[in-house]
Amino acid sequence: MKKISILAFAISSFPVCFAASPPMKSAGHVAVQPFGQTSDGQKVNLYTLRNAAGMEVTITNYGGTVTTVKVPDRNGKYDDVVLGFDSLQGYTQPANTAYFGAIVGRYGNRIAKGTFSLDGKTYHIPLNDGPNALHGGTTGFNKRVWTAKDVSTANEPALELHYLSPDGEQGFPGNLDVTVRYSLDAKNGLRLDYSAKTDKDTVLNLTNHSYFNLAGAGSATVLDHRLMLAASRFTPVNSTLIPTGEIVPVSGTPLDFTHLTVVGSRINSDYPQIKIANGYDHNFVLDSPGDLSKVAARVEEPKSGRVMEVYTTQPGIQFYTGNFLNGKISGIGGAYRYRSALCLETQHFPDSPNQPNFPSTVLHPGEQFKSTTIYRFSTH
Ligand code: GLA
Repeated sequence: MKKISILAFAISSFPVCFAASPPMKSAGHVAVQPFGQTSDGQKVNLYTLRNAAGMEVTITNYGGTVTTVKVPDRNGKYDDVVLGFDSLQGYTQPANTAYFGAIVGRYGNRIAKGTFSLDGKTYHIPLNDGPNALHGGTTGFNKRVWTAKDVSTANEPALELHYLSPDGEQGFPGNLDVTVRYSLDAKNGLRLDYSAKTDKDTVLNLTNHSYFNLAGAGSATVLDHRLMLAASRFTPVNSTLIPTGEIVPVSGTPLDFTHLTVVGSRINSDYPQIKIANGYDHNFVLDSPGDLSKVAARVEEPKSGRVMEVYTTQPGIQFYTGNFLNGKISGIGGAYRYRSALCLETQHFPDSPNQPNFPSTVLHPGEQFKSTTIYRFSTH
């Protein structure tokens, strides 16, 4: 009798489970469904990439945003490991100032006083972070509708997103033609290939702003995750989180993640750089810049056993512990609380246009900007 009722439950719940998860798709194909309409009437879609192993990523062409990343734990149980929303309104709500999952540009992170000079001319970007411009100004690439194309190959689902940022948009010079190609490989690697061209000298810093919690989006904290950053130096910041221009060793400081370390173990330290940022919100200088074969960051979550490795051609990573999240906004995983996720934003260094010491972020006409970042998921 008991057996029968369990079976009956299993059978009756099966269609519900099946309906709740997106339909199966083979590799080499991107599925499309409507995701909503912007206030100015632009329709946006949700694109699903799924590999043969069962990993699944959804992306909307609003902001080029990764909305879900479903990967297995060590027992094969799938969970969504990025903070996101199940409708466009989640992203467009005024309370959302966190850049959840979005492509950030034209200039990721801060430009001091929103001002920089290029070829003897001064440019002004709208201020949206105290005295500074953050993530491309008030209306960055995260709030733009991108055109989308299925560019899957026989083995890999892939989505190409394109945005033309007009000359003068948010104060930046030059028409900037940007392409971001998302693809999912057979080994649970989510790959982002960025490319861009300009018709005038401009500055550029593109990244993706996904918030990860490997225990599952909406889990209470990320402080129990372990992190390794292949970075023996970082760029200290002033009280408005603008780099001082120095590049200093992490050794002997709570910013030393050169060996796997529990994220929360030193987050409440009195070290001035931690106090200034109210946690981690710093640019780490990678030891092997430009080398896609070297792991730049590794994150492990002890209970689920999930692991994420980051590979990148970019010279830096912004490690941010969700210090501005406060639980007032809720998404697919529930309330997104203080320090309940971490970001590893592969990037050029913040405020580079004003920092002669940092690698250049200037793009000239006739050049093509290219960068690649891979987030690879496994278990331990
Ligand atoms: C980056 C910044 C943080 C914060 C987030 C978005 O990580 O460095 O200070 O602005 O973006 O909330």
